Amino acid sequence: MNKSILKKELEKINKKNKRRFYMPGHKGRGEDFDFYAYDITEIPGADNLHDVHGVIGAVQRKLAKIYNSDEAAILINGTTTGIHSAILGACVSGDQLLVPVNCHRSVFGALALGRIEGVFINPKIQKDMGFAQKIELESVKKALAENSKIAGMVLTNPTYYGTTSDVKAIAELLHRKGKFLIVDEAHGAHLHFNNKLPMDAITAGADVVIQSTHKILGSFTQSALMHFKGERINRQRIKSFLALLQSSSPSYPLMISVEEAVDMAYEKGEAVFEKIIQAHRRFCQNQEKSAPITLYDEVESDTGYDRSKWLFHTQGISGEQVETLLSEEYGIQCEMSGDDDVLAMTGMGTTSEDLERLTQAVWELNDKIKLHDFPGRPVGKKNGQAQKNRLTESIKTEVPLWEALTSDATERESLQDAEGRLAAAFIIPYPPGIPVLLPGSRMTPEILGYLSRLLDQGVAVVGIDGNRELLLLKEKGAIHES
Ligand SMILES: Cc1ncc(COP(=O)(O)O)c(C=O)c1O
Repeated sequence: MNKSILKKELEKINKKNKRRFYMPGHKGRGEDFDFYAYDITEIPGADNLHDVHGVIGAVQRKLAKIYNSDEAAILINGTTTGIHSAILGACVSGDQLLVPVNCHRSVFGALALGRIEGVFINPKIQKDMGFAQKIELESVKKALAENSKIAGMVLTNPTYYGTTSDVKAIAELLHRKGKFLIVDEAHGAHLHFNNKLPMDAITAGADVVIQSTHKILGSFTQSALMHFKGERINRQRIKSFLALLQSSSPSYPLMISVEEAVDMAYEKGEAVFEKIIQAHRRFCQNQEKSAPITLYDEVESDTGYDRSKWLFHTQGISGEQVETLLSEEYGIQCEMSGDDDVLAMTGMGTTSEDLERLTQAVWELNDKIKLHDFPGRPVGKKNGQAQKNRLTESIKTEVPLWEALTSDATERESLQDAEGRLAAAFIIPYPPGIPVLLPGSRMTPEILGYLSRLLDQGVAVVGIDGNRELLLLKEKGAIHES
């Protein structure tokens, strides 16, 4: 049989970049796993993820015990479907949901699927690099005071960049007012295993927590875990949505990988993350603040910074260039790069040697960049402009998000003709990856000017194509009522 084209391509990629600083957390290292042997269906004795009575129940109870939750549910369609189900199950008709705008797209997807009204709040923005740093308690208080129908809130913690909010204070505030808290802990399944990492959401008092065990722990991509704590949310409704939205053929290899990843973290997580945290600290202590590539840290954060994320800030050279140099010259592949940042993600599979090689490579690049030792590479690029022109307007929708997103009364128009019009798609600049327009929100002159400046600076804006066109609603009255 011919070898799969995809397999051949991935083998090439793996050969080139031996050091993985991107997801998943196993980094390509794991015990041999005979996928075919364990890939079965729901035959007697194997239980059924959607109707748990046997061995899957025993595994889920073990996982709940490890994380100190009341109940755990293994997910086989990622945190994405966990978030959809949690929101759809927690909200009832007419509820509002408090949503920080730096939430993952699955949160906005759930609003559309459930026809739930989002009350949007802005995060505090990190001043040098422009990403969402935290949700301030005051913003939550204000939104609750102004919106009587808020049933609860979704919070992303930690963020993709490793920053955290005061989940405990937010949970206490919401609970005092009889509201629920769902935490998207997609990037935090490891927090529980080392107490130098920020507090995990179950400990902080969240009602439902969803974790992508594949991102930093070592389960297979697409597997995840949901936890329930307390009685504030109707668990059965959420579980019904899980059965409705996830595949009716749950993969046993994915389920096994969640169990094994958590077992591994329980056994070795503390040591693995200790090594990563110490290497991060050493790097920060020894770096020159004015170096072209510096490692970001938040020593003064009240709620801690997740040092499993190695987020580099670049000056005089773009993040994209640094990512390419690390790959081409050192065989190190990072998770992502932007105008002035590069993110290297560590995980359960990261070794001391990986950390040393990354550290060494960045030191060397810093020396070479200072000497302008990169023929043909523009090292004088001034970056950070996009963030400096950051928008201050807060986001709101004038037409329900689900109506705008599913409307067939749309047309593509050029950005310059879009002033005063309603968007029919998400418009999200990367970085920082925070939507500036949701389906159903209006293009003001300020937003239009901001988007034009970003595009002029070469920033990628999801929802605006290469011809600077975007999808708009034809007119408010033309939206079909459904
Ligand atoms: C903050 C956040 N939430 C949720 C998700 C979705 O997770 P999954 O890929 O497990 O569906 C992601 C994935 O990138 C994410 O970054």
